[in-house]
Amino acid sequence: MHVNRGNPAGQEVLVDSWPEFKMVLTRPRREVARDPSDYFTNLYTAFYRDEGACRALLGNSHAVDWGQAFQIQGLQDGVYETVRDIARARGLEMETYPYRPLLHPDPPAMPQYRPDKGLSLAPVSPAHAMLLNDTWKFGGNSWSLRYLSLLIRHFPNACLLAPEGTPISWCLTDPLAALTHFYTLPEHRGQHHTRPVVGMLAAQLHARGFPVYTGVLPNNEPSLHTLQRLGFRILPGVFYLLVVRPGFAQSQPASALDSAQDPAPSSGERPHTHST
Ligand SMILES: CC(C)(COP(=O)(O)OP(=O)(O)OC[C@H]1O[C@@H](n2cnc3c(N)ncnc32)[C@H](O)[C@@H]1OP(=O)(O)O)[C@@H](O)C(=O)NCCC(=O)NCCS
Repeated sequence: MHVNRGNPAGQEVLVDSWPEFKMVLTRPRREVARDPSDYFTNLYTAFYRDEGACRALLGNSHAVDWGQAFQIQGLQDGVYETVRDIARARGLEMETYPYRPLLHPDPPAMPQYRPDKGLSLAPVSPAHAMLLNDTWKFGGNSWSLRYLSLLIRHFPNACLLAPEGTPISWCLTDPLAALTHFYTLPEHRGQHHTRPVVGMLAAQLHARGFPVYTGVLPNNEPSLHTLQRLGFRILPGVFYLLVVRPGFAQSQPASALDSAQDPAPSSGERPHTHST
């Protein structure tokens, strides 16, 4: 969503053919995907109209670098099935996070709650990156710290500060403009501190023309409850986040699979890149 707004995450857009495309893939630019272990920066998203085109493009190592760790997101079962099958064939590990998609249907109708006395609303500061990294489900490593620092610097966010300036509740957005790392410190939960945070962030996103949406794991009742109380609706379907990592000892050499799965590069067969 930020590709044509300065593109701070360094993404590029590929299609299987142009102008009649059946598959769209966003991926990190080559100069961005420099660390083969960094599955935060190596972020792909996929959307298809034709499942065969989806399999062909995702299986093409000119389009997806299967030699690196990466994450891929998509809302269609075929994306999950295709990535699962290719990862299996290549002997790669894949972690599946099947999120429930939630969307706020009318962000301007969301009340703007005031913070409790002594607390203040503010943007998240780069100085808070360590705290956010230590508290994030996906955090605790140097790649997540680098990724969270990028999100803090370049994408809309909001937090609630205690009088001494420590954040107690916060929410970031990611390169897809989805709410992410929505969190309240355990000792401050249940006091509705998320309301001013999400209200302020939703207003910012709406003002910039973005939808207000996120994904929540199905067993995360506190989060599902909190967001629905703020007016979010659960959408049908699954918002897949898949993390693929090289690593199984029995992996087949990538070169063998590349030659079996990829069409020989020739004009008209290579994916098309659009840097919009
Ligand atoms: C989800 C989270 C941000 C909510 O923070 P919070 O500050 O407690 O939220 P609020 O006080 O604004 O709202 C809490 C609501 O959830 C409810 N709740 C708390 N625990 C619950 C549970 N186990 N099951 C269902 N509802 C629960 C509270 O009763 C309250 O409901 P109410 O508005 O009807 O009174 C917090 O639990 C958290 O940080 N969790 C860990 C990180 C996480 O899972 N983030 C979401 C990732 S998508």
